[in-house]
Amino acid sequence: MDKKRNIVILFGGRSAEHEVSIKSAEAVFDHLDPNQFTTQCIYFHKNGRWSLVDSPHIRKEQMEKGAFYSFLPWNSEKSMGLPKSSVYFPVLHGPYGEDGTIQGLLELADVPYVGATVMSSALGMDKAVAKSIFQSKGLPIVKHTVIHEKDFIPNKTKIKGQIKKEYSFPLFVKPSNLGSSIGITKVQSIDQLSRALDVAFRYDSKILVEQGIKGREIECSVLGNDHPISSLPGEVIPFRSFYDYQDKYREGKTKFGIPAQIPESVKEKIQEISIHAFQSIECSGMARIDFFYQEHNSKIYLNEINTIPGFTEISMYPKLWAISGIKFPSLIEKLVTLAVEKHADKKRTQDA
Ligand SMILES: Nc1ncnc2c1ncn2[C@@H]1O[C@H](COP(=O)(O)OP(=O)(O)O)[C@@H](O)[C@H]1O
Ligand SMILES: [Mg+2]
Repeated sequence: MDKKRNIVILFGGRSAEHEVSIKSAEAVFDHLDPNQFTTQCIYFHKNGRWSLVDSPHIRKEQMEKGAFYSFLPWNSEKSMGLPKSSVYFPVLHGPYGEDGTIQGLLELADVPYVGATVMSSALGMDKAVAKSIFQSKGLPIVKHTVIHEKDFIPNKTKIKGQIKKEYSFPLFVKPSNLGSSIGITKVQSIDQLSRALDVAFRYDSKILVEQGIKGREIECSVLGNDHPISSLPGEVIPFRSFYDYQDKYREGKTKFGIPAQIPESVKEKIQEISIHAFQSIECSGMARIDFFYQEHNSKIYLNEINTIPGFTEISMYPKLWAISGIKFPSLIEKLVTLAVEKHADKKRTQDA
């Protein structure tokens, strides 16, 4: 009897990070140990349909052929017939993947899956909510204001006046529920503010205005369930004026410092805050925690948590683990084990 565990990689997805997800899925697929695992892949089309495919490497036209399935199992053309003992690995970034929606489907199906639960995913995805939790735990965050579109529309002039009074330039305006720097503007002067607010409201009805921090961008990987561990931190050195979409995915001119060249005490502090941030949203499995570090006064600011970090060959999450002693294949193995443990734990409490 074949004792290999079946892993189902979920990739593609409806968000703007569709292409990145394909790259991440390819790397996960390539690093799964064939002696331990069999692999199946579910490709999510941008329109929400999904198909069972052999590998994330096959051409897109190929992936879009064959039987389609729908998000609602009862609307499907037929059953996918996946082995019952499969572990699901969502390698989906952004909305409809990293925000608890897919996790909800996997909970309904009662299957083990890698990474954060429905609640932790949703909390991590919403920058405004995540920041209020970080703040309540005493974690060092950047000064910010949350603005809802319904409050903004009747009070535009007043709100813009308040921002001008309370913040200095540059400041950042960003949608609350998105990633990949989409909809984010670095505002250098008051005449750029209105446009920045409009752009952010195009992507979400809730946005954030944040004090711009002049600092280095440091990231740290976390792994675990009840007893998470943190990796050595790494540094992202954006090519452009901030780490925007072009810089992240188009130009490839970003530089990385792996590990980050920072003082030992800063490294330790970042590792410690990373674990606290992870625990503050009751995260499980994995997360990458992003920071700003100001050298002149040694201040550290927690920026955000990513519950499904990039997994491409050049992504920080696996690279930071590699230099911290956990190579890509054993990282995946650990994530699968954590998923199985989490699922068993839940079953135990449900059955009690
Ligand atoms: N308060 C800030 N100060 C300085 N730079 C910022 C600030 N907020 C965002 N940025 C820049 O914008 C990038 C994207 O912002 P981030 O909050 O990480 O959103 P995303 O989820 O889209 O990655 C950051 O990596 C950083 O380069
Ligand atoms: Mg970011």
